[in-house]
Amino acid sequence: MSGRIEGRVAVITGGASGIGLGIARRFVAEGASVVVGDINEAALKAVTDELEGAASARLADVTREDDLEALCAQAVTAYGRLDIGVNAAGIGAFSNVVDQDVETWDAVMAINVRGVMLSVKHEARAMIAAGNGGSIINIASLNAIQPAEGMGVYCAGKAAVDMLTKVAAMELGPHGIRVNAIAPGLVDTPLAALLNQTPPIKAAFVENAPLGRTGSPDDVAGVALFLASDDASWMTGDLVRLDGGAHTKRYPELAKILGAIDGAIDG
Ligand code: NAI
Repeated sequence: MSGRIEGRVAVITGGASGIGLGIARRFVAEGASVVVGDINEAALKAVTDELEGAASARLADVTREDDLEALCAQAVTAYGRLDIGVNAAGIGAFSNVVDQDVETWDAVMAINVRGVMLSVKHEARAMIAAGNGGSIINIASLNAIQPAEGMGVYCAGKAAVDMLTKVAAMELGPHGIRVNAIAPGLVDTPLAALLNQTPPIKAAFVENAPLGRTGSPDDVAGVALFLASDDASWMTGDLVRLDGGAHTKRYPELAKILGAIDGAIDG
């Protein structure tokens, strides 16, 4: 039996860990070849070892335009085409606005916003050149639509990704390229280790979700697969909420639970 994205080729930024890695595994299981870009060299090697012939890897920092151009070119050189772009590279940081330092703000925005823009730009250029259309999937966050105290830069950046997704969908639709975003709630990954491994915080997130649990990278991979596949062929410019229903409630008050919020949780 052939897979749901048999023969397609995907670029996945941040694909060496967490959500991006879960998507890489699922895409390969469904017949795709993947080119994984990340800044973690050891983790990249582990991905290519695990996925053998179906994956290739490249050191790529999403804040660097040359790296993204080369990453997309590698997909075309290695596999002859580019059909799918998944933009998962991202970091987080905690600070109240009154204490926010500019260096951290700029560093998070450079990866979480400029990095997504540059990824979309070069994925779309490769897709337009090939003339086969494509599907681009940005990993935003529930925090694109739900504010969280102490997470100003993360929330603002993810809201920017939501809006950029919509604008790109308008511009790229005529080329047959769909652009959507996924807004996950809390997912168990290295990035969110502090939240997942602090019992009262984890409990607050679980209590806040009608389905009574947080998410796994595989939960996100299922929705990414749908968006990448022809089943979503009339869908673009959307932000898909994927959070066990957490958006129907309120966000856990992290500062109250922790006592104070200060420090980075970058992965
Ligand atoms: P993770 O830390 O497991 O994976 C992120 C990957 O991005 C890592 O492999 C890291 O090396 C890579 N990366 C970081 N900076 C990079 C750069 N400049 N260039 C290229 N790669 C870079 O984190 P996770 O949780 O899988 O995060 C993936 C995306 O999902 C992020 O955009 C994050 O904001 C988003 N997200 C995560 C949630 C969670 O609860 N874990 C919830 C909602 C959204």
